Amino acid sequence: MFAEIAPRYDAVNRMLSGGIDIWWRRVTVSRAAPPTTGAILDICTGTGDLALAYAAKAGPRVRVVASDFCLPMLDRGVEKSRARGLPVEWVEADAMDLPFPDATFDLVTVAFGLRNIAETERGLAEMARVCKPGGRLAILEFSLPSNPIIRRSYLWYFRNVLPRLGNAVARNHADAYSYLNQSVEEFPSGQALVELITAAGFDRVEQIPLSFGIATLSIATKGTAT
Ligand SMILES: C[S@@+](CC[C@H](N)C(=O)[O-])C[C@H]1O[C@@H](n2cnc3c(N)ncnc32)[C@H](O)[C@@H]1O
Repeated sequence: MFAEIAPRYDAVNRMLSGGIDIWWRRVTVSRAAPPTTGAILDICTGTGDLALAYAAKAGPRVRVVASDFCLPMLDRGVEKSRARGLPVEWVEADAMDLPFPDATFDLVTVAFGLRNIAETERGLAEMARVCKPGGRLAILEFSLPSNPIIRRSYLWYFRNVLPRLGNAVARNHADAYSYLNQSVEEFPSGQALVELITAAGFDRVEQIPLSFGIATLSIATKGTAT
């Protein structure tokens, strides 16, 4: 499904969000700031927008690694990093079986990808395994607004307008954008997500609602005992 939408993925993102997804990633980079030295891993990186935002902000002593199991998405990321002259290491990998040793990264991130991993707990366990003790986790994910009036209007757009618009612009046959609203509505958010993050070995979980809660940034620290 992601291979099919890869060529138009960025354009569809910009159109459906009105460009606000760029700001959400900017907030992520500023709230979960890059370390001054060490390494960052962005999993389910897709076309690499979050990894590239980190590469633009991080200093020369920081290694930025971006992984995804969908090669056509990664290929777009490679093109963008070349065009912008931003050093990112692109790795084809399954988020449930990451090819990195334990405790490799100072910061592990995922944007709009955790929801797509077939087994969320396994994805989080891998993020915890490759994160250094005391290192940080940042998860940017869609959520639903808590204000009932905003929530109702948003759900209407999300269920009725977004799937049709997304599928038409992405020109895909797999109904990728019908799946989007369904997966967001079913995915754990708020306290349920905090519990999953904690169970994986992270603590000090902070949740930052963005744009009335249409997206939420969760930041946590890996416990030193894990
Ligand atoms: C909605 S896209 C998000 C892309 C990007 N992070 C962004 O912010 O636009 C989800 C990505 O997760 C990837 N993905 C889903 N399950 C995965 C898995 N088990 N291992 C690696 N990548 C996965 C897909 O290939 C896709 O590129």
